Amino acid sequence: MVVAHLSDLHLGAHDRRAVASVAADVARFRPALTVVTGDSTMRARTGEFRLARDLLDRLPGPLLVVTGNHDLPLMSWRRLLRPYARYRTWMDPDLEPDRRVPGLTALGLQSMPRWRWKNGRVTARQAAAVVRVLGGAPRGDLRLLALHHPPLARGTVRLLGRDRLLHAIRAAGVDLVLAGHTHVPDVRVPVPGGPVFVVAGTAVSRRTRQGIGCSWSLISVRPDATEVRERHFRDGRWSTGRVVTVSAAAS
Ligand SMILES: [Fe+2]
Repeated sequence: MVVAHLSDLHLGAHDRRAVASVAADVARFRPALTVVTGDSTMRARTGEFRLARDLLDRLPGPLLVVTGNHDLPLMSWRRLLRPYARYRTWMDPDLEPDRRVPGLTALGLQSMPRWRWKNGRVTARQAAAVVRVLGGAPRGDLRLLALHHPPLARGTVRLLGRDRLLHAIRAAGVDLVLAGHTHVPDVRVPVPGGPVFVVAGTAVSRRTRQGIGCSWSLISVRPDATEVRERHFRDGRWSTGRVVTVSAAAS
């Protein structure tokens, strides 16, 4: 089972060469699902959503996309009254989509409420949806949860509702938790035998951090191991960077 994980596209602050080439790089690996974990735009402007839509249409489907903090307008009447209108028009009318393909059940959460600025939150209703949708997946399915804010973040970037979400993840038997937000790729398995938490970097934007350029994460789940290959854009080409392998026995 191969999943492509992209995040933080930030169209409007993008690297044009990365935008032009990333879809072909993703398609090479024939993913069963392509996930985009938020911040598809820089400032939630219509022109940026149009560019994001164009990129999504070139990525191999099926797609699962969620909102990020940059996908809501900055302080304005629009943020208060119609915060998700443009996102719904251009990206997906469903803020919490689920996707089912053979062997895989996936759920996306909308972790960016209008009344928070940057940090996310997960409500009791959303945690219950994780248990219902992913806990109710067919036996043997890979169970995948996607949201913008990394659930393992601590300190000032801690997700509100973090504990209830982690509890739901355990209760639902989630295998893979995909997030973004930090622009720094990461793979963690905090509990042996528990889910693999993957953070993808910024796929096509100039808002890179820690000297890490544009990247996306290719996740291959096999019976014996989960492998996360980070695909980096360097000198106009995509190539494999760090590879993290989590063996099923040790995970
Ligand atoms: Fe971002």
